[in-house]
Amino acid sequence: MSESASGQISVAPEAHGFGARITGLDLSAPLAPDEIAGVKAAWARHSVVCFPGQPLDLDALEAFTLQVGPFGQDPYITPMPGRPNVLELRRLPDEKASNFGAGWHSDWSFLETPPAATLLRAQTIPPVGGDTLFVDASRAWDALSDAMKAVLAPLQAVHSARQSYGTKGVFARDTEARTMKIIVSEEADGSLTHPLVRTHPVTGRKALYISPVYTVGIEGFTPEESKALLGFLFAHLTQEEFVYRHRWTEGDLLMWDNRCTMHFAEGGYDGYLRVMHRTTVQGEVPA
Ligand code: SIN
Repeated sequence: MSESASGQISVAPEAHGFGARITGLDLSAPLAPDEIAGVKAAWARHSVVCFPGQPLDLDALEAFTLQVGPFGQDPYITPMPGRPNVLELRRLPDEKASNFGAGWHSDWSFLETPPAATLLRAQTIPPVGGDTLFVDASRAWDALSDAMKAVLAPLQAVHSARQSYGTKGVFARDTEARTMKIIVSEEADGSLTHPLVRTHPVTGRKALYISPVYTVGIEGFTPEESKALLGFLFAHLTQEEFVYRHRWTEGDLLMWDNRCTMHFAEGGYDGYLRVMHRTTVQGEVPA
């Protein structure tokens, strides 16, 4: 189904209305201004967009990313040699360490200006597992009662990298060898606050801006109160009706909007190689 076709660009929404596939473009060459505008409009509308059949080399991945916007900051992971803005997510067949991204999160939400977009290109896909799941945090917000929305609207959520990259975090406690070079740091033990409900700067839609991996509390709440309210919201967000599951095909390029989604890399491919390349696009201070 084609929702819209401008020139050769076709945008086909996923069946349950979250996510879309964009075809009719060759991303290995610079896009014309109307094409990149069409891509950005589709991305704003659908939040997760897949460009199938785009086996971009790393130069082309970087160039396309820069057409979307300036590179974002990517802390705590050593980037590819000679490519400070590209992360390689590589997991070997015999690797026992947990796969990268195996928890619901919105990328780098513990930064003052978290990335607006993340782009992920599928280089080597295992024959089983390795799906990436996305939550539509705008739709999840819309589904709450007006009474709950009134409680949540003024709150500030506390974000931190500590549970992952901090000195007592998951990666600090990791005993299994890992191909990706993760940087555990005291800096990751710090925290900052962002509005718990964020307004998308392009669409004006509100979204829950929290995640189990990076949201560690709610400002002014006791730890027990935070745990109870966040627990309710995480369960609400991850209901099936708000989730899109991306089953990868080699050559897919996915671009998602961190301002109104969270994602989860499912794993389930022990014994197989999985290699992905990832860039981010700078965002704004959440408001
Ligand atoms: C991530 O960016 O969190 C990982 C996504 C994936 O590998 O599917």
